[in-house]
Amino acid sequence: MYERIQETASWLKERMTTSPKTAIILGTGLGQLASEITDSYEFPYSEIPNFPVSTVEGHAGKLIFGKLGGKDIMAMEGRFHFYEGYNMKEVTFPERVMYELGIETLFVSNASGGMNPDFKIGDLMIITDHINLFPEHPLRGKNFPTGPRFPDMHEAYNHELIELADEIGKEKGIRLMHGVYMGVQGPTFETPAEYRMYHRMGADAVGMSTVPEVIVACHCGIKVFGISIITDLGGFDVPVEVSHEEVQKAANEAQPKMTEIMREMIRRS
Ligand code: HPA
Repeated sequence: MYERIQETASWLKERMTTSPKTAIILGTGLGQLASEITDSYEFPYSEIPNFPVSTVEGHAGKLIFGKLGGKDIMAMEGRFHFYEGYNMKEVTFPERVMYELGIETLFVSNASGGMNPDFKIGDLMIITDHINLFPEHPLRGKNFPTGPRFPDMHEAYNHELIELADEIGKEKGIRLMHGVYMGVQGPTFETPAEYRMYHRMGADAVGMSTVPEVIVACHCGIKVFGISIITDLGGFDVPVEVSHEEVQKAANEAQPKMTEIMREMIRRS
């Protein structure tokens, strides 16, 4: 595994003309930010040695390098989900490569189902913490030398970045909620009883990604900022139907706000 990570990182380094310290993972329906990256050059996942290939509609599947908020960045358009059949080492392969490329800060985004009754569809939720309900752990197996066998997770989501986001949200009049993200395997959306259970367990939103990537980033000492777009609501009195199209549409409508926050955070940090 380590050799494959090295091989991929070397392949990219040979072709990179910039030195990003910041990486961004764009979630479902959140590709718009990519169009704001200037001086860009990109690599489809299919061309990168050892990279898994994304299969979900709405995930283009490429690494984009360029500038955002005046800084060198790299962005993943399309991520790898456990429900697609990848194992956790594959799901988190890009974060291992990011570490080798010198990434110090990771911005993750996703679409999720809101369970906190204060939330509305289209809200942005800053992820303050997560609960890992995936059935396989990304750090299972031989420990990688990037971090300890038993990594501390008390501040998986960097509090200074959260404060910075709040400050920017206030200045720009963008409503930013805070909450705990529950990571589950999917691919089913939740039953009404499951939404209620997850809310009682302490989560404000539920989704099928992010947690594995954040765990690996933490293990590599990469600072993380996470933002979730609430694309549907679950667990309230009236069960509502959820579809992938609806999730994409809500994410698409909310993404200018997310782009604004992230661009400004990158500019100032
Ligand atoms: N549940 C799980 N994943 C999701 C949801 C949801 O309600 N919405 C978007 N991704």
